[in-house]
Amino acid sequence: MAISFTLNGTLRTIHVPPTRRFADILRDDLGLTGTKISCGIGRCGACTVLQNGLPVNACLLMAYQVDGSSILTIEGLAEDGQEQEAAADRVQHGDAPAKNVGCREPVGECAETHGDAAGEGADRHGLSPDRTVSQALHPLQRAFLEAGGFQCGYCTPGMILAAKALLDASPNPTQAQIREALSGNLCRCTGYTGIFRAIELVVNSGHAKPHTAIDMEGEDVH
Ligand code: FES
Ligand code: FES
Repeated sequence: MAISFTLNGTLRTIHVPPTRRFADILRDDLGLTGTKISCGIGRCGACTVLQNGLPVNACLLMAYQVDGSSILTIEGLAEDGQEQEAAADRVQHGDAPAKNVGCREPVGECAETHGDAAGEGADRHGLSPDRTVSQALHPLQRAFLEAGGFQCGYCTPGMILAAKALLDASPNPTQAQIREALSGNLCRCTGYTGIFRAIELVVNSGHAKPHTAIDMEGEDVH
């Protein structure tokens, strides 16, 4: 079956069995491994993506249900395409390369802490030296870094996308609304305090504004 959908701002057409799991399409067919699979049965939220702006579990979504819709994954969240995608993957998805050895500090502070030149501090965060975290990441991704909103990072993409859906619909949510919005996303590591703190950081900073769609381009893949 051919299905066409918008993926992170790009129109895609793929040929897949209609009941193929969308989480597998993203990870195995399209190489977007930022979407995680944990329970595989709709209980944990690790596989959360946004479909037409609403959070859905990609492990329960079948290919035919994606046809004609718009999907946002964690790779499409920031504003700069491939570079932000790589940065987000390195910094937040638990796929850290050797140079990003557990450092969660803002680049400037990282450089001071590690005694690095500023460029090396940026490199430690998986960014090229002429880029900064603040230029590359979405405010929610940055807030998760700054507020310690993750430990292993496995739940983080789903948490961030669930939070984005909330803030797009309600830029000034109450604590109760934040907890309700993230109630379908489980974290085995953080105790949730850092996650809620990160979202409140974005709310209080005034950066809780809807995502601007990336320009659409047509692309066929098989
Ligand atoms: S992996 Fe999809 S909800 Fe757990
Ligand atoms: S940070 Fe490890 S599961 Fe949430």
